[in-house]
Amino acid sequence: MQQRTLGQSQIKASVVGLGAWAIGGWMWGGTDAEQSAAAIRAAVECGINLIDTAPIYGFGESERIVGKAIGGIRDQVVLATKCGLRWDCERGVFHFDSDEKSIGGKGYRVNKYLGAESIRHEIENSLRRLNTEYIDLYQTHWQEETTPIEETMEALLKLKQEGKIRAIGVSNATPEQMRRYLEVGPLDSDQELYSMLDRKHEAENLPFCRDQNIAFLAYSPLARGLLTGKTGPEREFNEGDARASLRRFSVENRRRAQAMLERMRPIAERHNAELAQLAVAWTLHQPGCTHVLCGVRNPGQAETNAAAAGISLDESEQTELNSILNEFDDVV
Ligand SMILES: NC(=O)c1ccc[n+]([C@@H]2O[C@H](COP(=O)([O-])OP(=O)(O)OC[C@H]3O[C@@H](n4cnc5c(N)ncnc54)[C@H](OP(=O)(O)O)[C@@H]3O)[C@@H](O)[C@H]2O)c1
Repeated sequence: MQQRTLGQSQIKASVVGLGAWAIGGWMWGGTDAEQSAAAIRAAVECGINLIDTAPIYGFGESERIVGKAIGGIRDQVVLATKCGLRWDCERGVFHFDSDEKSIGGKGYRVNKYLGAESIRHEIENSLRRLNTEYIDLYQTHWQEETTPIEETMEALLKLKQEGKIRAIGVSNATPEQMRRYLEVGPLDSDQELYSMLDRKHEAENLPFCRDQNIAFLAYSPLARGLLTGKTGPEREFNEGDARASLRRFSVENRRRAQAMLERMRPIAERHNAELAQLAVAWTLHQPGCTHVLCGVRNPGQAETNAAAAGISLDESEQTELNSILNEFDDVV
């Protein structure tokens, strides 16, 4: 699997990475810890070394599952996690309420907070849950206005000096916010929503990252499963799977998406590929997009997504895919 350097760091990460949000279960209708661990190990065997998680994914559960799964193979993994979403602290800015039941039987109130002392607190929790002494890529998950970016970046640089993290990234950030991070020190990656159906960053963060030598990590490249061709109008979601209530997964949108994917199928077949692989390959071909993070539930999905890194789409195929996307611009 091809690897690319994360920004100015010396870290080489596979172009297809594994995203461990669904593995945490929360918002995805639960998780099977054994299947998840098997998926992570299968991914590494297929050449995926980049594994992205976050404390908020399952309120610690995703990090715990990842930590266990990479026991014994830690040195083969580029481990990425995040900070800045707190469910146990009043400071910062309200982000959302989750009805996930906490130990006290109440839901969680999640705040965005990137204060220096909070980052210090969060890194220790992540290191413990991930059962490791260092994080390869530490990212601010969501940006907030109550802490100056300079304070956040200085705290991250200190963690780097101490050897607790090796590279610094942001997520859900604007180019303007990234400029402020860059004034304080090197920023190695930007993680943003990007897929065939989510293309606003073509005019925003993608060109900025390319100019500044910042790795661009596309998240939800399969549109949370819609682009795999396996989420048709007939699919039923488990209780607690947040997709069920999204407009993107309305029966009508799934029907339109299926029609769009059928038009793309001949291109996938030419490459002996599945539709999911075509979506991953298309994303990786876009200028400035250096890595894609694919969520997985089982080893089969990990293997399929890893193999997409080897698909090369020529110019006429990319043009054809873009014109199908234009034709189906009502698909959300
Ligand atoms: N920074 C942020 O704010 C942020 C936000 C979102 C995501 N992310 C990161 O990006 C990662 C990926 O995004 P995502 O998990 O939201 O969505 P995604 O990668 O677009 O979709 C993942 C889902 O698609 C299905 N799937 C994956 N591979 C498949 C295959 N080969 N065949 C059939 N179905 C397949 C699985 O769900 P089913 O089998 O249940 O359909 C899987 O959970 C996350 O895990 C996380 O690390 C970051």
